[in-house]
Amino acid sequence: MLKEKTAVITGGSRGLGEAIAKKLASMGANIVIIDIGDPTLAQQVCEECRQQYNVEAKAYQCDVSDFNAVKEVVALIKADFGTVHILVNNAGITRDGLLAMMKEEDFDKVIAVNLKGAFNMIRHCSGLFIRNREGCIINIASVAGLMGNAGQCNYAASKAGLIGLTKTVAKELAPKGVRCNAIAPGFIATDMTGNQTDNPLLKMIPLGKMGEACDVADAAGYLATAKYVTGEVLRVDGGIAM
Ligand code: NAI
Repeated sequence: MLKEKTAVITGGSRGLGEAIAKKLASMGANIVIIDIGDPTLAQQVCEECRQQYNVEAKAYQCDVSDFNAVKEVVALIKADFGTVHILVNNAGITRDGLLAMMKEEDFDKVIAVNLKGAFNMIRHCSGLFIRNREGCIINIASVAGLMGNAGQCNYAASKAGLIGLTKTVAKELAPKGVRCNAIAPGFIATDMTGNQTDNPLLKMIPLGKMGEACDVADAAGYLATAKYVTGEVLRVDGGIAM
């Protein structure tokens, strides 16, 4: 379904990004992983994509919060793959703390990676999308951006900002054939969330359990092919934010 397409996934070396990369590879897309973490993890995901799904896959080290570094890496991807069709802005971090005690650097860092990182990627890929008159952007937000979450003012603000960015990009680029949607996951079991079996918030999830990375990856697969859907925020949250 995505044969001949190239999908860039930021933060794709583990967790939700890894699951999304493998899902899009299973649909036939060539895979580009951008990550700042352990390069051997990203190489491993690429190797699995190549072996299991017979697609091209390559990993690049880059900090998505660095405007110029993102510009350079997108130029490298263009040289290696020709263009980009799908961009998944998944790289994200947390630096939790109550607002009254939060350090300025913890607020700035989370906004820089989660929100400006997505801006940087979209900004530098948009020329390719516009030239192709085709493009699909998927931003991984969070239910924290819809509901707020005590102890996460920086993270919730970054994710709410990402939703505003999503809807604006959807409106600006729709005439150029580019779609932009967000996914708002709830509690999904990954390294970021850790083992939360005793978290009281779990009792508030109507479906009664944490989600799995594949639940978010399936939503990304849907949005990658949903040709009449743009500006949407798709909750994958067991119902917690309804
Ligand atoms: P994770 O911590 O397991 O993976 C994040 C990946 O992003 C890592 O590979 C990391 O190296 C990479 N990364 C971090 N900073 C980066 C930077 N500056 N430049 C490039 N890469 C960078 O996280 P997880 O759980 O897989 O989350 C992925 C996304 O989903 C994040 O945006 C997160 O906020 C969001 N999310 C996760 C939820 C969950 O329950 N796990 C719930 C809601 C949203």
